[in-house]
Amino acid sequence: MALDNRLNITDSTELARMEEKISKKKAVELFENGYLDNYEVGTFRMLAAIHKYLFGEIYDFAGKVRTVNIAKGNFRFAPVMYLQAALENVEKMPQSTFDEIVEKYVEMNIAHPFREGNGRSTRIWLDLMLKKELNMVVDWSAVDKEDYLLAMERSPIKDIEIKYILKQALTDKVDDREVYMKGIDHSYYYEGYSVYKAKDL
Ligand SMILES: Nc1ncnc2c1ncn2[C@@H]1O[C@H](COP(=O)(O)OP(=O)(O)OP(=O)(O)O)[C@@H](O)[C@H]1O
Ligand SMILES: [Mg+2]
Repeated sequence: MALDNRLNITDSTELARMEEKISKKKAVELFENGYLDNYEVGTFRMLAAIHKYLFGEIYDFAGKVRTVNIAKGNFRFAPVMYLQAALENVEKMPQSTFDEIVEKYVEMNIAHPFREGNGRSTRIWLDLMLKKELNMVVDWSAVDKEDYLLAMERSPIKDIEIKYILKQALTDKVDDREVYMKGIDHSYYYEGYSVYKAKDL
């Protein structure tokens, strides 16, 4: 029942375990090798590059915009039909203040461009905006995962909770690898997407 993958793993728990291991190793490389210096902060191209780097060994869809409609819980992310336009609009959003950056992050989460791995890649993308514009990053070890997830579920309606949670966790330790790696931690539990057809809309 696992997603198709380049490792030929069929068990979803085993895939989640390998995915976590490999993406963490890749995240360390990304932190150290300056690869992302070639990209403009806050663009979709940069997010796609992050995703491709983290998941390229695992999924053929790494760095590619998804081709199916997906939902989590009862929230439907941007339908494929509108996804390209959504990404262009999100990219144009301003990112000069903390509030603007979090609003941009929330909209990118609503777009949810990839088939899997949106959370981890978009948290790195968020940190790179905070770092460039404010010289701060989120200390993810100061963020309770359950609170974060609830706030993200709530964020399409109201972003005050996610803003509060991220703001209290801001740190100026922008080059601290431990602080950064905590953002790559996967959720406590594995929760897949439900895929739906456009006619269900
Ligand atoms: N019901 C929901 N509504 C809106 N956003 C959600 C919802 N559930 C999860 N999210 C967001 O989606 C992210 C998970 O996306 P995805 O599973 O593609 O990424 P991941 O990297 O595998 O997961 P994780 O962020 O849990 O490590 C969460 O981090 C959260 O930001
Ligand atoms: Mg996931």
